[in-house]
Amino acid sequence: MTVTVQPITPDFAAEVGDVDLGKPLGAEDLAAIRAAFAKYAVLVFPDQSFTDESHLDFARNFGPLETSVFALRKDHKLRLNPHLADVGNLDAEDAILQAANRVRLYNLGNRLWHTDSSFKRLPAYCSLLHARSIPPIGGQTEFADMRAAYDALPEATQRKIAGLVAYHSLMTSRSKLGFSDFNDDERKAFEPVPQVLVRRLQDSGRMSLYVASHAGAIGGMPDGEAKALLQQLIDHATQRQFVHSHRWREKDLVMWDDRCTMHRGMPFDDQRYKRDMRRATVSDVAPTCEQMGLAVAAE
Ligand code: OGA
Ligand code: MN
Repeated sequence: MTVTVQPITPDFAAEVGDVDLGKPLGAEDLAAIRAAFAKYAVLVFPDQSFTDESHLDFARNFGPLETSVFALRKDHKLRLNPHLADVGNLDAEDAILQAANRVRLYNLGNRLWHTDSSFKRLPAYCSLLHARSIPPIGGQTEFADMRAAYDALPEATQRKIAGLVAYHSLMTSRSKLGFSDFNDDERKAFEPVPQVLVRRLQDSGRMSLYVASHAGAIGGMPDGEAKALLQQLIDHATQRQFVHSHRWREKDLVMWDDRCTMHRGMPFDDQRYKRDMRRATVSDVAPTCEQMGLAVAAE
């Protein structure tokens, strides 16, 4: 039996059943998952029992893995394999991170609309987030469809933003939360990088916006105007008709396409409940400007 794909929305999110991702996948199953993922940018796989290794092995089917940005910090112990982003609220001893803990403050950036690793020249293609333990209330993850958002833009705006290049940095999104405690390695790693504002997806042929809270400037545009335009595009793309909210169950694996979605974590009582969430992230095939055939001068 091959996998079963059950739509949640007409063309944004779907559930996938009849598959155990913890084991090596047959070619037919993998082809069915790839086809579903070209249509639905968010796939939910319920009831997946992973080890960290089998989670990473499943992710490797989609391309090379990223290394977590936390590997840059030398001042705290990593809880997980450096290929897994630790997006929960636990320390290396599995205790709840205290309110003032740096890792916790840093992870608060996940509450802002973003797409993973757009602050890297070679950003993410997709993310695979597994729920090991979840709070009883709160802590949903919301996803915004930036393909549908692009399609709904007035033609004049589509024309205006075609060919524009935005500059993304993790320091831009973190500074929105008043967080500026970066070490020298981080400052270097988080220099702003160019990303197209509009992209065409190679597999589906669809157009998509590409913005995130990491974006702080646009090439050739005065700063105020650029910031206003970026905020306007994020506000547009996150209107309710483009958003799907995922209520986690333990052992859900959710896989999303970082090229054409934004997501954000919703609040929960993180001083009371444990939320153990682990993310594998697959790199895109090339920098976005290169993919869209845009030459970009270094800034
Ligand atoms: C992520 C992320 C939000 C959440 O894993 O990339 O932003 O709800 N997560 O945990
Ligand atoms: Mn994220």
